[in-house]
Amino acid sequence: MSTVSHIIGQHFRHAAKDPMTKHFLRALNGETLSRPPFWLMRQAGRYLPEYRQVRSGAKNFLDFCYTPDLAVEVTLQPLRRYDLDAAILFCDILVIPDALGQKVDFIEGSGPVLEPLRGVADLGRLSLDRLHDHLAPVYETVSRLSREIPKETTLIGFAGAPWTVASYMVEGHGSKDFAATRTWAYSDPEGFGQLIDILIEATSKYLIAQIDHGAEVVQLFDTWAGVLSPSQFDQWVIEPTAKIVSNIKKAHPHIPVMGFPKGVGILYKTFVERTGVDGVSLDQTVPCRWIAEQLQPLCTVQGNLDNMALIAGGQRMEAEMQDILETLTGGPFIFNLGHGILPQTPPENVARLARIIKDWEA
Ligand code: CP3
Repeated sequence: MSTVSHIIGQHFRHAAKDPMTKHFLRALNGETLSRPPFWLMRQAGRYLPEYRQVRSGAKNFLDFCYTPDLAVEVTLQPLRRYDLDAAILFCDILVIPDALGQKVDFIEGSGPVLEPLRGVADLGRLSLDRLHDHLAPVYETVSRLSREIPKETTLIGFAGAPWTVASYMVEGHGSKDFAATRTWAYSDPEGFGQLIDILIEATSKYLIAQIDHGAEVVQLFDTWAGVLSPSQFDQWVIEPTAKIVSNIKKAHPHIPVMGFPKGVGILYKTFVERTGVDGVSLDQTVPCRWIAEQLQPLCTVQGNLDNMALIAGGQRMEAEMQDILETLTGGPFIFNLGHGILPQTPPENVARLARIIKDWEA
């Protein structure tokens, strides 16, 4: 095929939704934009009264995630209020243990509860056989969203990264120190590695299927990466992430992958250098000047307003935003929070944040 017909062919394929005119994808492709694109982690959620309304009609949280009518509706809710550049699929990272056959429950007020896995012998309870069948409703949600979101909005798919998902599977609930998981990882790396390998395979298949159904970018959430020593970070965060990125790129070479290893400080740089991600999401503890100097030459950066500053609002929030915007709009950048929006966040503070970004010219 000649170059010209190749280009025309591509142009035709994307005529309905020309991806490269999307502000969000341009930033992920390495462009420096005078007005940065933005979205917010957990942008759909309990801080919105319309979310609580829909949520109150579903019997439990996982059923809610597996009901495309409801998941599509709550994904779209924040887009109706704010001029966001991206929509993130509404779902949860714990659908993977559920799809592998581990019992997962969400208890009102206390978070997720799983039947814990405490050693290699327990891995027999997991199976990859029903993965896609089990997750079919999520793929249906992605397909519908890809048809229903505004044409200038980018659709983000996501999954939890193996380390963070494993930590819930092993502890059986959230934790402050992840003692059982970290001890297993040190005392029996071969056995714990088998769990991580199952998660690498499941997560790769899950994200590739989300892309097959219309996700234009995917993000890996590694919320608890920050509790690991450098050697353990290497083994349980960098290596699994690099494998997932490589599996996705084999199936979909042009789909950007973003990583969010929360709380890892200077190890963010190693993460970017060694995993092959196209973008990295930063938590609020990382100085913007360091991000601009050390990470932005390597990939697109995303972040990192403190979610508590968004709750407080007012002058202090605006000063924090100003610092982030001034320092990071000199390179490829997506504005976001350092971690997800909390339920007590006033929706009007989110509106103010959106206004400041829309009015920003670097
Ligand atoms: O960003 C979005 O808008 C997409 C939706 C999304 C949810 N969870 C919805 C959700 C995403 C990306 C997640 C990721 C997730 N889930 C992570 C990684 C990112 C992070 O925030 O750290 C983790 C660790 C989980 C696991 C999880 N899910 C926990 C610990 C809880 C309970 C916490 C709580 O506040 O009750 C959930 C439940 C959950 N996931 C809710 C939402 C909107 C609240 C449940 C409800 O509405 O009843």
